[in-house]
Amino acid sequence: MKDAAPQTIYLKDYTPFGYIVEHVDLTFKLHPTATRVLSKIRFTPDTSTSDKMFFLHGEQLKLISAKIDGQEISPSYVEGGLQADVPDTAFTWEAEVEINPEANTALEGLYMSNGMYCTQCEAEGFRKITFYPDRPDVMSVFDVRIEADADNTPVMLSNGNGVSKGEGFATWSDPWPKPAYLFALVAGNLIAHTDQFTTKSGTEVDLAIWVRPGDEGKCAFGMEALKKSMTWDEEVYGREYDLDEFNIVAVDDFNMGAMENKGLNIFNSSCVLASPETATDGNFERIEAIIAHEYFHNWTGNRITCRDWFQLCLKEGLTVFRDAQFTADMRSEPVKRIDDVIALRARQFPEDQGPLSHAVRPESFQEINNFYTATIYEKGAEVIGMLKTLVGDAAYAKALDLYFERHDGQACTIEDWIKAFEDTTGRDLTQFKLWYSQSGTPEVTVREEYNGETFTLHLSQKSAPTPGQDEKHPQVIPVAIGLLNTDGEEVQPTMALELNKAEQSFSFEGHTTRPIASVLRGFSAPVILKQDIDNTRRAFLLAHDTDPFNRWEAGRDLARDSLLGAILEGAPHNAAYLDGLKALLCDETLDPAYRALMLGQPSQSELAGVIHKMGQIPDPAAIHTASEALRDAKARAFADMLPDLYAKNQVEGPFSPEAGPAGKRSLANAALALVTRLDGGATASQQYAHADNMTLQLAALSALIDAGKGASALQAFYDQWQSDRLVMDKWFSLQVMHAKPADSATVARTLTQHADFEMKNPNRFRSVMGILAMNHAGFHHQSGAAYALLADWLIKLDPVNPQTTARMCSAFQTWKRYDAHRQSLIKEQLERIATQSNLSRDTSEMVGRILD
Ligand code: PHE
Ligand code: ZN
Repeated sequence: MKDAAPQTIYLKDYTPFGYIVEHVDLTFKLHPTATRVLSKIRFTPDTSTSDKMFFLHGEQLKLISAKIDGQEISPSYVEGGLQADVPDTAFTWEAEVEINPEANTALEGLYMSNGMYCTQCEAEGFRKITFYPDRPDVMSVFDVRIEADADNTPVMLSNGNGVSKGEGFATWSDPWPKPAYLFALVAGNLIAHTDQFTTKSGTEVDLAIWVRPGDEGKCAFGMEALKKSMTWDEEVYGREYDLDEFNIVAVDDFNMGAMENKGLNIFNSSCVLASPETATDGNFERIEAIIAHEYFHNWTGNRITCRDWFQLCLKEGLTVFRDAQFTADMRSEPVKRIDDVIALRARQFPEDQGPLSHAVRPESFQEINNFYTATIYEKGAEVIGMLKTLVGDAAYAKALDLYFERHDGQACTIEDWIKAFEDTTGRDLTQFKLWYSQSGTPEVTVREEYNGETFTLHLSQKSAPTPGQDEKHPQVIPVAIGLLNTDGEEVQPTMALELNKAEQSFSFEGHTTRPIASVLRGFSAPVILKQDIDNTRRAFLLAHDTDPFNRWEAGRDLARDSLLGAILEGAPHNAAYLDGLKALLCDETLDPAYRALMLGQPSQSELAGVIHKMGQIPDPAAIHTASEALRDAKARAFADMLPDLYAKNQVEGPFSPEAGPAGKRSLANAALALVTRLDGGATASQQYAHADNMTLQLAALSALIDAGKGASALQAFYDQWQSDRLVMDKWFSLQVMHAKPADSATVARTLTQHADFEMKNPNRFRSVMGILAMNHAGFHHQSGAAYALLADWLIKLDPVNPQTTARMCSAFQTWKRYDAHRQSLIKEQLERIATQSNLSRDTSEMVGRILD
């Protein structure tokens, strides 16, 4: 049997499957190297379709027997599956296949992780479990029986509700029709942290987080997050849970963050396990968000799923938007928004401005696994946010009710989604839909005009060509604005202007003094704003803007321009920025978490992107030097208040991961990083010695490494934590993240030789190689050593785990920003990867697109 050869799949070619799957019965006889899967599937011809070819997907399956209506048949193998002659009335398909979970290092289908059986079926993993129409528009109810050796595998889980269990077996039934990508099975020696939840209509739901023995102390926070998510979805979206149990499993070997399988969410252990001693505040916040995300998929993804994988953003963009709303409600709305915009600029903007640029709803792909991208997820969420801004909160809520009511149980498209909004509001959203089909980051330019009475904003929009899209059309861009007077008072509260032409002007009458505009408040659209304003105006906004996002943004712009001046012209850092920032840092009416964000500055790779957009060639070494110099300048300028800032933000009492104390720790740790530049690590080593939680311990360790005094603390950290995989991931990544540019490749290479480095574990691999790619000056060091090292390891990993390899190729996506020397070094590595024999479809698509 042959796997499908690389071929391009097009949205326009969509055709429905010719059969309805009435029911699926699966029996698993689990064995590490020879698992038997018996399937019994009831098919009925779908009279509404014309295509009556009976094709079932299947990959890496050994067929033992196949029957139709009890009669043994010999199907014909075709690429990626099999075909059979079937009756033209309802019939029962039965097959027995053998698979080898232990040999499955790709972590897709049924595989083993530390002795535990685990599945991952999204997007197309179910076809590695049995023959099936493995496409999201084929939905069915599943009954599952699992048999295994009772001693090693006492716990056996699948989707839906548990029906029965006994010595060596368990059965499960999922009453909700679902596509195969939501199928899941987990079995092994697991312990549950349990709880209960009563839904608003009174159903008792048994909740459990299943972990390997030893990890049961790290589940409490995840459980609280789950209950909060369940309550929030009832209160905010009116969505109730729909089974008698909800299970979460933590697994060490997992390609992604987590997976929303119906009733049985599977999590990368790094995205669910946490204790104060082992997880940072950042980890806690992320865990809360991912638990919410997967839980929210129960309605946006599972009850209403995608017709085909081109519609991936239908579930992902919406669910990311929902989890962001949740985090904003649980924590701080402005802080969440700023965090998200930082991430969007760091991950989505480079993607959308380089060779991998694609639409939120792409029109073709080779390997769907390569499309779980920042564009589909994060830009997809921004599109939902814009839609909500345009129609207003009330219409948004109504449209969602209509969407849930109209499409429950269906596999839908973006057209269905948009139609729910059109029918609710009576608005024509044809032009808005361009956000789904047009790739690239639009640029919005603002020009101001004032005549003593009328203040006018002239807005224009432009999008650069992207791969496959030379011509761009004007999009509907909500530009939220506000106007301030010179005392910093709001004379025009926030309102959304609707920019939908190439150029448009918006006038505000009755302003006898010239107002000060605050544009793109709350980052109301995922665009690049071009506004010709000077530093005085920015400093004013930094001090006075009533929109917390734009106030932060004003500081960010000042920092960026100061850095650009230093990088491109050797100019000294901007004193007005440092003064304005200092005033803010001391302002105790401001949330500490917000002040900590104020202290940040654009990352080195973001600066490289900005310089490239200016038509110049970024020099990673110069960017690094200037970034460090700005931090030194901050340390000097704030020297007199830093100790106080540090002291005032110490948190007393037992650890709490909530936003309040976490914000104080993040401000104190930001102060620590600066203090370390003045005291050579004295404060950091005290903090390290007394730290009783990972947030403080890790920040102190980072500071010590930066001060060149990390060696003994790193050893102590290793000795303390060597048996904790998740903490050891931090130990690996920290060293690569904080390596000096010239040493990065050597540090990373040495770590790959460490006894605890495991290529097959995606978390561990990423904690070295993924972080190397994020150490901008180190990765782009002129020697090319880091490029070569990453390529070596991608070549090694590809046959083991194509999905993770392919995703990490994006480290090279920005290569055309750099000088000819670096470009040729990178190109050489990309070509070396491309010419490997038996390169996976995943990696070959990625390298091909990047080189193109
Ligand atoms: N659907 C998962 C999520 O976003 C992500 C995922 C994709 C996980 C593919 C595994 C494989 O929630
Ligand atoms: Zn998701």
